[in-house]
Amino acid sequence: MKYKSSQWTPLANKKKLSRYEKFCEKAGKKPRLLKNFRSNPDFGFIVENVSRERGQDYLQRIVNHKYFDESQITHVKKNDLVGNPNLERYKMPFGEISPNTLRYFLNALNIYNFTKNDSIKNVVEVGGGYGGLGRVLSCFISFCSYTIFDLQSVNKLQKSYIDNYQNIADKFSYESEPRKSLNSDLFISNYAFSELGEELQKLYYENLILKCKKAYLILNRGKVSREVFLNMAKDDFNIEIKKEYDLHRPNGEIYYTKLTKKN
Ligand SMILES: C[S@@+](CC[C@H](N)C(=O)[O-])C[C@H]1O[C@@H](n2cnc3c(N)ncnc32)[C@H](O)[C@@H]1O
Repeated sequence: MKYKSSQWTPLANKKKLSRYEKFCEKAGKKPRLLKNFRSNPDFGFIVENVSRERGQDYLQRIVNHKYFDESQITHVKKNDLVGNPNLERYKMPFGEISPNTLRYFLNALNIYNFTKNDSIKNVVEVGGGYGGLGRVLSCFISFCSYTIFDLQSVNKLQKSYIDNYQNIADKFSYESEPRKSLNSDLFISNYAFSELGEELQKLYYENLILKCKKAYLILNRGKVSREVFLNMAKDDFNIEIKKEYDLHRPNGEIYYTKLTKKN
């Protein structure tokens, strides 16, 4: 089974979703579109959609994070050199930065905190957007491999984006066959696994999540789907879960979720 986008149900209508897929397909091949993909609305409403205000909230949490260090900012901001994102001006030392990049910055600090005592060599991410979190995470964790599972069209865009960063490009690979099974140290899926249908969730659970030591997920798709997943994972993992805020009431609560394999 190749990926079916019919198994993907984010909080957007089907027409917009097919525009997103078509756009990613084209942008992955055409340098002209790639140049501005992050400010294109067909892409932005799915991935690059953090408001200035939400960015400010992320920034505050970054500054208060125990592993934050000002010297990280320059490295993280390199994400914004590609794809012409909408930048916002924040207080120094942040200056101009995409609010979406601030989201990845905070995610990366949280993931670093969660895994700092582990040896993280191989990372798997499901639903990686344009690859931005993987790029930011490479500033914090020196992994050997990073595999992004996504729709084939989106994989093309991810590769085109990551190839701009020669120091990490060789570590990344892109996968659109969900039946593939991989052992890894860390599984990540933010606003993505929770948007998938039960069949795909089960495949990813058995082939990827169950084969990793730790998993970091941001679950955003309502109570039923979250409880089905947590029920599936509870015998295999110790689970830590924290509600953050309601994004799209009443079905879009955000839950930061950390799984650690039971011995
Ligand atoms: C809301 S976006 C989140 C992107 C990214 N994780 C972030 O936080 O910015 C959902 C992601 O899931 C991906 N996706 C859609 N269908 C998928 C599938 N069947 N398998 C894996 N990923 C899928 C989308 O292409 C997109 O990258």
